[in-house]
Amino acid sequence: MLFAARATAFLRVAAVIGFACAMLVLLPASHVVGQGQAGYPSRPITLIVPFAKGGPTDTVARIVSVEMAKTLGQPIVIENVVGAGGTLATRRVAQAAPDGYTLMVGHMGTHAAAVALYPKLGYRPDTDFAPIALLTKMPMLLLARREFPASDFTEFVAYVRGHTHVLNMAHAGVGSVSYASCMLLNHLLGIDPTGVPFNGTAPAMDALVAGEVDYMCDQIVNAVLPLRTNVVRAYVIASSDRDAAVPTVPTAAEAGLPAFQVEAWNALFAPKGTPAPIVEALNAAVVRALDQPDVRGPLIGLGGVVPPADQRTPQALAALVATELQRWGQVLKRSHN
Ligand code: MLT
Repeated sequence: MLFAARATAFLRVAAVIGFACAMLVLLPASHVVGQGQAGYPSRPITLIVPFAKGGPTDTVARIVSVEMAKTLGQPIVIENVVGAGGTLATRRVAQAAPDGYTLMVGHMGTHAAAVALYPKLGYRPDTDFAPIALLTKMPMLLLARREFPASDFTEFVAYVRGHTHVLNMAHAGVGSVSYASCMLLNHLLGIDPTGVPFNGTAPAMDALVAGEVDYMCDQIVNAVLPLRTNVVRAYVIASSDRDAAVPTVPTAAEAGLPAFQVEAWNALFAPKGTPAPIVEALNAAVVRALDQPDVRGPLIGLGGVVPPADQRTPQALAALVATELQRWGQVLKRSHN
């Protein structure tokens, strides 16, 4: 009996291994570009998302990583490590082993704005990371609770200027995209609301829908569904053009505040010192993922912008980080005093 059970178990394991090997062999060459890069990857990869599940960063990470995992031939396991506007997780990744098994999705907050907001940040976005590739650009929206007493942006401005000391503004922590964007807005409007921090804009959105906070700035990917179901309001989009996912929302310029311009972005980073063949394998996996209908469809459908080929290189991402560090350094110096 014991022998039979062991033999059956052995056959089952052998069948699973055999099936897995057959699947690997059957994968087209383009699906295993990561293999053969010094054996990388030979085990699952951890992808750190510095905010709560279900928010913009998490959504982008999950959509893109499914296709990347197919290319790399290994699972990509998402770990949400929250706190301090994404900066705790970012510091952890900066200090992780540069072996390609700990990566992160960073963004305009963690890899640009946060530098101007934390005197002791503990990492440098431009020197402590190996940039892999830009994943998306995301228009930003000014959103308010459904019952907010303003039917358009002009009324919003009049109301917030008259009630600045009783207003509260949700955000995903000091240094996050939502925080930095609304700092710019508040500065332009001359208002000083009470900030209410969350571990991401998924819980912040829940609070907005519940009417517990007055307004917030958020990436479009998190706002399209609440807007379609009419549970929150959007007053402006902080871009030069309207977005097809929310076509009735006017641009900030149309609404009379042209200086409210923010383009959020999300990108893949590894710790500095990650070997070039690994960076190349990961970049190739992103590049392929961004061309797949299962990635483009949801990202574009939720209002995101998929970067063109020339913006998907590590060099283009390094240049973006440098430009954004400078821009947000100046913006927040003016806005955060
Ligand atoms: C932010 O920085 O505001 C983030 O995008 C929040 C999130 O991803 O939840």
